[in-house]
Amino acid sequence: MGSGATDVVVVGAGVIGLSIAWRCAQRGLAVTVLDPAPGSGATWTAAGMLAPATELHYEGRPLLALTLDSAARYPGFVAELADATGVDVGYRRCGTLQAAWDAADLAALRDLHAFQSSLGIESELLTSRQLRAAEPALAAGLPGGLWAADDHQIDNRMLHGALRRAAGGAGVREVTARVGGWLRRGQQVVGVRTESGDRFEAGTVVLAAGAWSAAVAELPAQTGPSTPAGLQVPAGLQASAGLPAEVVPPVRPVKGQTLRLRGPSDLLNHVVRGAVRGSPVYVVPRGDGSLVIGASSEEAGFDLGPRAGAVYELLRDAQLLLPVLGEVRFDEVSTGLRPGSPDNLPMIGGTVVDGLLVATGHYRNGILLAPLTADAVAGLITGEDPGIDLTACDPRRFSRSEVSA
Ligand code: GLY
Repeated sequence: MGSGATDVVVVGAGVIGLSIAWRCAQRGLAVTVLDPAPGSGATWTAAGMLAPATELHYEGRPLLALTLDSAARYPGFVAELADATGVDVGYRRCGTLQAAWDAADLAALRDLHAFQSSLGIESELLTSRQLRAAEPALAAGLPGGLWAADDHQIDNRMLHGALRRAAGGAGVREVTARVGGWLRRGQQVVGVRTESGDRFEAGTVVLAAGAWSAAVAELPAQTGPSTPAGLQVPAGLQASAGLPAEVVPPVRPVKGQTLRLRGPSDLLNHVVRGAVRGSPVYVVPRGDGSLVIGASSEEAGFDLGPRAGAVYELLRDAQLLLPVLGEVRFDEVSTGLRPGSPDNLPMIGGTVVDGLLVATGHYRNGILLAPLTADAVAGLITGEDPGIDLTACDPRRFSRSEVSA
């Protein structure tokens, strides 16, 4: 595999990395994307909910501005993808029903509705009868719910496939390789090298490796010597293993499991969510009858093993909301790692090291935030103004100090 010089290297070929690569290539930049297993991380496990309203948490106002902006970019984003690839990525403007489990849960939904209204987000409280009329497969006797008409969904796996095709069509070079070190010139990041020693120099490197972003930035523990035997490094270029601590994004893996079932294509018309005895669960119906149930949430390091208890709890709670799920086919359990950040906001933008941008920490909203992240990063690189206020997600908010020469 060859090395090379390029305008932009993107580390990570999940939905975030590929969206960035595609947008950059559309603007005439030469782009190389590196990933040992493109799209196998959170991109693969996600359910594809595009849910600014029902993923809203009380501390989440700064995030809401980003999620609403990105949701508004989605129709154009998928239309452009369809034009470029001919692929329908399953963007369904189906809305979301949040079912209350009991009276206490209904009271919590009323509070959430009031909070949403105070922020200008449309949602509607439903009686028990209205809830059941909207989704007849719901269990009888649920006390009511909330209708979020603008919380939609996309088939994240189809999206990834289409992005790969669109990026390739726009000239993006995809390299299946693991980053093994960073190329520096003075304090500046000027590229990466792979574990096998190939070098990719670039004007800008974008770190978009999801839950692995900190590990890729740190590297020494994983890769041993910074310069493998036999690697020729040109004069003026230093090959280092890890980056300075100031630019290691404080991303942690938050394990999530999703289940895939298959039933009749008309089983559900909307995304259905609920919190059964306080335990959150959602069911996302694709147009073809497949149903994605999610999602557990555990702080378990990089463990990717499916946990039987999480599968049991998801199936139990989903079936309590939608009894018919007990009769449909079980297809798959998938485990992924959300890239969590200390304040639940992503890190998008420049760092204290020249040449290095990061786009990570998207936590529960990576699929939703892809269009915004891609436009923002492409804008930072080209100098175009994408009209996005990135203040809240400036990666430098976590830098301990400026890097000295
Ligand atoms: N966005 C849903 C989840 O992270 O489970």
